[in-house]
Amino acid sequence: MRVVILDNYEEVSRWAALHIAERIRESAAREPAARGRRAKPFVLGLPTGSTPLGTYRELIRLCGEKKVSFENVVTFNMDEYLGLGEDHPQSYRRFMMDNFFNHVDMDKKNIHTLNGLAQDSGAECLAYEEAIRAAGGIELFLGGMGSDGHLAFNEPGSSLSSRTRVKTLTGETRIANARFFGGDPQRVPATALTVGVGTVMDAREVLVLVSGYQKARALRAVVEEGINHMWTLSCLQMHQCAIIVCDREATDELKVRTVRYFRDIERRP
Ligand code: GLP
Repeated sequence: MRVVILDNYEEVSRWAALHIAERIRESAAREPAARGRRAKPFVLGLPTGSTPLGTYRELIRLCGEKKVSFENVVTFNMDEYLGLGEDHPQSYRRFMMDNFFNHVDMDKKNIHTLNGLAQDSGAECLAYEEAIRAAGGIELFLGGMGSDGHLAFNEPGSSLSSRTRVKTLTGETRIANARFFGGDPQRVPATALTVGVGTVMDAREVLVLVSGYQKARALRAVVEEGINHMWTLSCLQMHQCAIIVCDREATDELKVRTVRYFRDIERRP
């Protein structure tokens, strides 16, 4: 696992956006359109939450400056609240449209999100896994982390080989997300559709953004402790191409020597 430690949230956002843009450009150069054949799409997994907002802003800026294009990018979002439709102001679909998709040159038919109003949520989850497979799998999964170390909505105790399914949210997650629901945890839906830990682990690369003191305890568990289903992001220890990009505040609970080691690695020419 690579851990990139930067000074602050703005640097984390810039680093992540440049990394994603570079991967998209590399893929376009590797698999260009040829006569009678379209370029291979770049399949990108995406999160919601406050943390990726800066990265989305940077990607929008890079797209505006024509430094990256999303024309040939296919996206799959991580999760959605069960019971919220795409027009609900707190739905993750709406969040993504407002904060990212509406501001870049994406073909809207390339956007995939879980349907929180699906009649049969089990079938919706199976179809999502199938759609990811049919798209050729996810090239790069961008993620965030809950303060209890959760990835997407894979709450503590989730199977590390889980696939897309319905999960019951913990009280801690509902309290943390209450800020989007008028401050009332009871108004946060109790269940959500979410990709599984196994779904994220199948991506060729996983990039996770971590920012702030409130994530420091979880970051220590994920980086310095063992693989543990109570801190589901610790699954990254088993991934061949995983990067955590974090700010200094988030490293507050790491050992000095851990921080020094990861910083030394990044300084290497
Ligand atoms: C929710 C989302 C996660 C996200 C987490 C942290 O639980 N399902 O994908 O990583 O919130 O959000 P924030 O970035 O706002 O701290």
